[in-house]
Amino acid sequence: MSGSLFVVGLGPGSPGALTPDATAALQAADALYGYGPYLARVAERPGQTRHPSDNREEGARAAAALRHAADGARVALLSGGDPGVFAMAAAVCEQIESGDDAWRSLDVTIVPGVTAMLAVAARVGAPLGHDFCAISLSDNLKPWDVVERRLDGAASGGFVIALYNPISSARPWQLGAAFERLRRHLPASTPTVFGRAVGRADEKVVVTSLGAADPASADMATLIIVGSTFTRVIERPGLTPLVYTPRSVASS
Ligand SMILES: C[S@@+](CC[C@H](N)C(=O)[O-])C[C@H]1O[C@@H](n2cnc3c(N)ncnc32)[C@H](O)[C@@H]1O
Repeated sequence: MSGSLFVVGLGPGSPGALTPDATAALQAADALYGYGPYLARVAERPGQTRHPSDNREEGARAAAALRHAADGARVALLSGGDPGVFAMAAAVCEQIESGDDAWRSLDVTIVPGVTAMLAVAARVGAPLGHDFCAISLSDNLKPWDVVERRLDGAASGGFVIALYNPISSARPWQLGAAFERLRRHLPASTPTVFGRAVGRADEKVVVTSLGAADPASADMATLIIVGSTFTRVIERPGLTPLVYTPRSVASS
């Protein structure tokens, strides 16, 4: 019996942002694997088994899902946002590369989802309208000096920067250090967006500037977008401002 593994992106949180392909993959699965709060977002179906695990256990979770699929089941492995962005799709590839040879023959499908950076950008306008990049501030899987080099390169290279994993109780100082680093390259007036829990009931989106950006305003559920020198804010009477990065850059 040949099984299959679907690595499914759930989007940022609202049911409307779940794609029809993701819904179909979730409904068709014999077994669901995922971080507990992500599993809780999916309606229960009789006959479908659920296998929750903790946040930090991505490698073990991916291996368990692969083992189950290799036994012949149709398995869905859940990911917040998009599974390919700082998430489970890469964890699955790591396990396939280093694990059981049989896993290389498995039918593996990655089902994309709306990543947090796009969900936050859409709330405020079009800050990603020109060249941009995404950097995870977590130094669990890479040393901090690598993060600093990438921040320097991105800011001096003119990219709008989306910061994932900005802060946690185990990583309390990194976001403040990242803002300090970015202020070396960018003016204090650079538009900066904090998007927290976008698509969920406790969503909060704040537009500020790099000079005023306060690390205490962020938590683990926050995605921060720091503009480039071209990013602009359009004030509107009675409405929230629009933040956007024009599509063109004059040659310098
Ligand atoms: C491990 S990364 C996973 C990213 C996810 N795969 C994605 O594509 O959005 C977790 C980080 O994503 C961001 N994030 C995830 N969901 C979010 C949401 N609904 N609103 C704002 N940021 C979110 C936060 O920066 C959080 O620390």
